Amino acid sequence: MYLGLDIGTSGIKAMLVDEAFATVGVAHAALTVSRPHPGWSEQDPAEWISAAESVIADLRRDHPQAMAALKAIGLSGHMHGATLLDASDKVLRPCILWNDGRSGPQCATLTGAADFHGIAGNLVMAGFTAPKLLWVSENEPDIFAQTAKVLLPKDYLRLWLTGEHVAEMSDAAGTLWLDVARRDWSDDLLAATGLTRDHMPRLVEGSDVSGHLRADLAARLGVPAVPVAGGGGDNAATACGMGVMRPGTGFLSLGTSGVLFAATDRYQPNTGDAVHTFCHAIPDTWHQMGVILSATDSLTWLSEITGRTVPDLAAMVDQVTEPSPVSFLPYLSGERTPLNDPDATAAFYGLRRNTGLPDLVQAAMEGVAMAFADCVRALRAAGTRLEAAYAVGGGARSRAWLQLMASATGLVLLEPEDGDFGAAFGAARLAAACAENDISDRVFSQPKIHAEIHPDANLGAALAEKYDRNHNAYTRLRPLV
Ligand code: XUL
Repeated sequence: MYLGLDIGTSGIKAMLVDEAFATVGVAHAALTVSRPHPGWSEQDPAEWISAAESVIADLRRDHPQAMAALKAIGLSGHMHGATLLDASDKVLRPCILWNDGRSGPQCATLTGAADFHGIAGNLVMAGFTAPKLLWVSENEPDIFAQTAKVLLPKDYLRLWLTGEHVAEMSDAAGTLWLDVARRDWSDDLLAATGLTRDHMPRLVEGSDVSGHLRADLAARLGVPAVPVAGGGGDNAATACGMGVMRPGTGFLSLGTSGVLFAATDRYQPNTGDAVHTFCHAIPDTWHQMGVILSATDSLTWLSEITGRTVPDLAAMVDQVTEPSPVSFLPYLSGERTPLNDPDATAAFYGLRRNTGLPDLVQAAMEGVAMAFADCVRALRAAGTRLEAAYAVGGGARSRAWLQLMASATGLVLLEPEDGDFGAAFGAARLAAACAENDISDRVFSQPKIHAEIHPDANLGAALAEKYDRNHNAYTRLRPLV
C-alpha cells in the first residue's frame, strides 16, 4: 500500500493505492486561503498539519488493514509557497502562496541582481519564492532576520512527518534558487536574495527516500514508520500520475490555476514568453509549463458573486457551436504565461442588455481556453512539440469546456479512463518508486484513454478572431487600471 498526500490550495487530499495502483481509499479536508490585501494570498501552515492528521485518521478508520500494510508515503503540494521557520522550526508568518502578487516590485530588483534567467531558467515572477523573501526582508525585516529555513508547503508537511528539512528537485526549481540544469542550490541566486545554503533544506530526487515517518507520530497515527519519498510539486506529481515523463507527452490541467505541462529530456528554458522550466520529479528529466493563474478560479469567482454553485454554472454551457457574444480576460489574479503581469486585471466586454449569465459563463470558459492557447504558443517557441495532452482537473469534467479548449489551442485532448490522476495519485506513485527503487514505465504507466476531444475547425476559427481581440483588449485596457 502506498499513500499520496497532496496539499491543494483549497484542500488536502490523501489517496491510498495498492501495489497495482488501484485506489483503496481517498480522504479530503478543506483548507482556507486568506486575502488580507488585494493581490495577497496566504495560508496558515498549521492548517496543513491538522488537515493531514484528519485525512490520515479518516483513511485509518475506513481502511485499517490497508493502512497497517503501508509501505511508503509520497508528498505533493502547491508550489512556490514561502514557509518561513525560525531556528527552532517555529513558523514565523502565514505562508505566502503561489498566486500572491505582492512582490512585483521585488521581481525587478532581483532580475538585475543575478543571472536568474540563465541559472534558474525562469523569469523572476511574483508567485515564485525568491521575490517573496525580498519582500519580507524589505517589509518585515524582523521576520526576515529570524528566518533560519525556508520550506515549500509540502516540505513543511515532510518536516512534521519525518523531522527533517528536505526538498526535492521539481518543487525546489520553483523557488528560483535552484540551478535547474545542475540540480543543486545556486549560491549566487541565494546571495542575491540575502540568503545562503544554510537557509535551504537538503535536496533529493522526488523518487528518492527523504526520511522516515517519526516513530512517535507513526504510533499516534497508527501506521508503520515507513519511508517518505521526495515527492513532487503538484504539477510534476500530476505528470507522474499519468506517466507524462518523456518528450512529446503532456497534460493540460484545469484546476484553480491552469497548467499546460510538457516533459523534456533536457534543460530548455524560454524566459521570453514566461515559460516555466523546472526539474521533473525523477532524475535527469525536466519539464516546461505554461501557467495561467485563474482557470477554474474564474468560475469559482463567478459562482461567489452570483450565488450559484460552480456545477450549476458549468451546466449552463452544454453544446457549444459558436462563441459567446461576450468576451472575458481571465486575469483575476494577474497572469504568468505569457504576460508575466501580476497587476493585470480581468474584464468582461461586449455586454448588452440581453446578455445572460450563460453568456458570461461561456465567455469565462473561452477566456481561459484562449489563455491556454497563449501557453501552447509559448511552449512551441521554446522548441516543444505537443500535439495531444491529457486533460485533467476539476474543469475537465465539463465536456463543453474541453471542446472550447481543444478548438482554441488546436490540441487533441485525451480524457483518461475513469480514475483519479491528480497530484495525490502521482505522489503515491513516487512513494512506490522510492520503496521499490523503480522509476520504470511499470510505476509511471500511462492511463487508458476514454475519449479524444478534437478541435472543431469552425469554432477554432471563430475563437482565433476572439483571441486576437482579447490581446488587443488587454493592451488597451492595461493602462486604464
Ligand atoms: C505552478 C503554480 C501552480 C501551483 C498551484 O507554477 O504556481 O500550478 O503549483 O497548483
